[in-house]
Formats: sequence, structure tokens, C-alpha cells
Amino acid sequence: MEIDLMKMEPRKAHDLLTSCVIPRPIAWVSTINHEGKPNLAPFSFFTGVSWYPPILAFSAVNRSDGTKKDTVINIEKAPEFVINIVSVDLLRAMEYSARPLPYGEDESLIEDIRLIPSEKVKPYRVAEARIAFECTLERIVRINEGADAGNLILGRVQLLHVRDDLLGNGRDVDWAALDALGRLSGNRYCTVRSVIESETN
Ligand SMILES: Cc1cc2nc3c(=O)[nH]c(=O)nc-3n(C[C@H](O)[C@H](O)[C@H](O)COP(=O)(O)O)c2cc1C
Repeated sequence: MEIDLMKMEPRKAHDLLTSCVIPRPIAWVSTINHEGKPNLAPFSFFTGVSWYPPILAFSAVNRSDGTKKDTVINIEKAPEFVINIVSVDLLRAMEYSARPLPYGEDESLIEDIRLIPSEKVKPYRVAEARIAFECTLERIVRINEGADAGNLILGRVQLLHVRDDLLGNGRDVDWAALDALGRLSGNRYCTVRSVIESETN
């Protein structure tokens, strides 16, 4: 079957595309607004794009009425953010933070998590996140304008926080201890609890 996504209704194209690109990690992005109020929201159009310098990217797509999401508005004003990695135990709090709230409403009172100060940037980080990246804005790549247009946000990692027990071997993160949550589509998620070790690599 061949499908022209541009001929589909945007919401249906979203559902189909996101169910093809799986599993996706979740960037739980913390920003602050012009009054210093915290904002937290998840984005699963998320990946690393470069390691030297270390650059991460996520895409915040405009709402269907054409307005930008609070995360984008905040980063345009104060070009810093923290990307927290979501573990399975944080699913409920992460989903709660995805509710659309009136701009500027304080999101620091989400149950199960605490927002604590970062070291190099002004936005807070999630204390319970086992990994967090303090980032400064590298650039925003606009994909179109208006409804459903993407804003690809590239961040330069200024500081990486890793919970001590995750780096037992001193080299790379213990995926079992991280217990990262992956996004499939809709309200379906996956875990990294079954791993294939290739013998050829
Ligand atoms: C698991 C998950 C992943 C999401 N991924 C994205 C994404 O990649 N891009 C996007 O624009 N919205 C995504 N959303 C929706 C945003 O989190 C949601 O629109 C949120 O209200 C934006 O918050 P803000 O206005 O405070 O920035 C996702 C939601 C969930 C629950």
C-alpha cells in the first residue's frame, strides 16, 4: 500500500506517521517563562544529532489553531531548557504535564515530582529524572508556518546529570537501571526490558 501523507487530514497523518516511527524516546522539556514560572512538557519527536559538540533535538508542533506551544514561546524568550529522560515510574506525571494549560500557569505542582534548580541554566530540572541534560538553544529550524507546523529545537548540552548507579561501568548508562519509557502512538508506550545483544558487533 502506498500512502500520500499530504493528502490525509493532518490528525490522521499524525497518527499514522507516529505509529511508524517507533519506539521514540521522550524529551521531558523544562523551560521558564518571562516571569520565571516553570513549564514542563513531553516531546517524543526527539533524538540526538551530534555528540561533539553534543546537540539534542526535539520538535514542538504548532497547535491546530496555529498557535505555538508554551515550550516554544518560552525558549524564544529565554533560550535555555532542560531535557529530562522519562523512566517508566514517571509515566503518570509526564502525561499530566502534557495537558494544555493557559500560558504561564505554574507547572511546578505536579504530583510525584519536584522541580529543582539546575546548575548552568535557569530552567529547573526534574529531581526524579535519572538523566537530565541542561541545554542552551543552538537554533530553531522552522518547518512551515501556522497549524501543525514543526519547530525543530536544537539544544547544546552544557551539563549532563546521570544518577550515580546508572554509570556503574564508568562508560555507558545501564539501560535496565534507567528503565526508559518509549512512546508508540496514542496512549501506548513501551519499555526497554528485553534487549538483543548482537554477536556480530
Ligand atoms: C508522550 C507524549 C509525547 C508528545 N510528543 C510531542 C511531540 O513530539 N511534539 C509535540 O508538538 N507535542 C508532543 N506532545 C504533546 C505536548 O506535550 C502537548 O501539546 C503539551 O501540552 C505542550 O505543552 P506546552 O504548551 O507547555 O509546551 C506529546 C505528548 C505526550 C504525552
